[in-house]
Amino acid sequence: MSVLLAVAVLFALVFLENYRRHRNEVKRVQHIPGVAYLNWPIYLLFSGDLNFLLKGSKGLSPLVNKYGPVFRITIGWETFVFVADHQLNKEVLVTKDKHFRKGPLVESSVNVVSDENNIIASHGEVWRKHRMALNPSFSDSGLKDIYNSFIIPCCDTVLRSWDDKIGSQDKININMSVALGNFVSDLFGQAAMGYKFENKQDELSYMYKMCKRVNLAMITLAIVPKYMVTYLPFYPFSDVKKTIKEWRAFLQECITKKINEQENSDLLSVMLRHRASTVDETEKLNDEEILSNLHMLMIAGNDTTIHTMEWIMYYLARNPTVQEKARLEVETVCDGTDTVTYEQIHENFPYLNAIIKEALRMKMPASHIFRYSKNDVTIGDTLIPKNVTVVPLFGHMSREENYWGEDTSEFKPERFLEKSDSEIRYRTTPFSAGPRACIGKKLANTEMLTFLIQTLKKYRVSVRDGESTSDWMPEKMMATMSTAEEVKVCISKI
Ligand code: HEM
Repeated sequence: MSVLLAVAVLFALVFLENYRRHRNEVKRVQHIPGVAYLNWPIYLLFSGDLNFLLKGSKGLSPLVNKYGPVFRITIGWETFVFVADHQLNKEVLVTKDKHFRKGPLVESSVNVVSDENNIIASHGEVWRKHRMALNPSFSDSGLKDIYNSFIIPCCDTVLRSWDDKIGSQDKININMSVALGNFVSDLFGQAAMGYKFENKQDELSYMYKMCKRVNLAMITLAIVPKYMVTYLPFYPFSDVKKTIKEWRAFLQECITKKINEQENSDLLSVMLRHRASTVDETEKLNDEEILSNLHMLMIAGNDTTIHTMEWIMYYLARNPTVQEKARLEVETVCDGTDTVTYEQIHENFPYLNAIIKEALRMKMPASHIFRYSKNDVTIGDTLIPKNVTVVPLFGHMSREENYWGEDTSEFKPERFLEKSDSEIRYRTTPFSAGPRACIGKKLANTEMLTFLIQTLKKYRVSVRDGESTSDWMPEKMMATMSTAEEVKVCISKI
């Protein structure tokens, strides 16, 4: 009886303390329109607004309509302020960037393989050191090497496997998600750390499956405290521990091998060469920082690119007119030649570029990102107190009917030929903007353009027999937003 009483008193004390902290937080942020919930799990059970976690920014659009372009959700003693206006987006990402860091949510999920920080989760001087070490790989000369050494050969492998499969048939069905998953993950294995896999093309590669497992582990670590994963010996915590251990050992093995052969153009070799040539000791990345960055590059570059390409192929199969226009551009530029140079890729394909931008506008993989206020800061005329998570709603802004028009839900690459870059800046920011914008944007674009050019040259992509071009694929929100199901299409020889 006394044990029960002690437990009841303990629960009551914990509840009262939570309530006190919740009330204090609500007082601090009550000038911002929005809603407050004392307890997240209870709220999740009884309501639906937090569906935004599963629906991407679409889930939050009704709240934008209700509260305006800056609103908050306070859960327990954490406040999330959402920003759905392009001028304010610019303030958060660019003009007032120095007032923010990535914050606990990002830090706990990103720094999982090492105690050392990396380019994604760090800020200030530490971040600058990481960015400087990685910049050479993402310069035009670094990317040109990656294009010639890895992107072209990996793309050839996929197309050769399709050639073998189709043989003398007119057309075949392809699981595009598996093809793209393997293409990007294997390319990344090689381009990031010089690791070459021997894969069967129609089975998911080790690298692809591993990245998926690591992503899941990272999501778990964003939600539950690290000590639970460390000390609880049952599922899902045991799985998370196993995945992280395996992933760390794999990255470690790649680094050990590379220490003695750094002459290549992969990102790891470039990082190691940068360290060797850096004189100032404080600017050098240590072994753990290199490992932590390698982990993050693999994770940041993999799913985002795969999912964008899945949506592109999904839309091309359903929009034959767009596809023919794209093919005409490819045929005109290539004019019967097999190879396209890195420079041509980036200068001569405006319509393919517009296709990529339109797919990203509609189905942005990173549809909202997180910033955490280091001090009180004003965004527009709203005071954001210290230690508040600010989330620019990229997905909402890039589909806003008021700006993009009534056809905002239609796949129309032409809109990007009609509007200049400066006109749409901060209204659609799939790679973010400002100093913390995606370092891999041009690499991702090179991969996507190469794959599109090579595919359109040889194959026509369409829906499978019995499917309609007006079928609609729902989205799935995990760490990034993807298609809810695998994309399966029919390919036929040109
Ligand atoms: C379609 C593909 C991609 C999309 C949509 C995308 C999107 C983004 C976004 C929105 C951010 C900002 C995140 C934040 O501020 O929290 C970001 C940052 C970053 N991305 Fe990408 N990304 C893509 C591909 C890649 C690739 C291929 C790589 C590299 C291998 C990469 C590496 C990074 C890194 C390292 C950062 C952090 C940059 C910094 O903080 O200095 N991404 N990306």
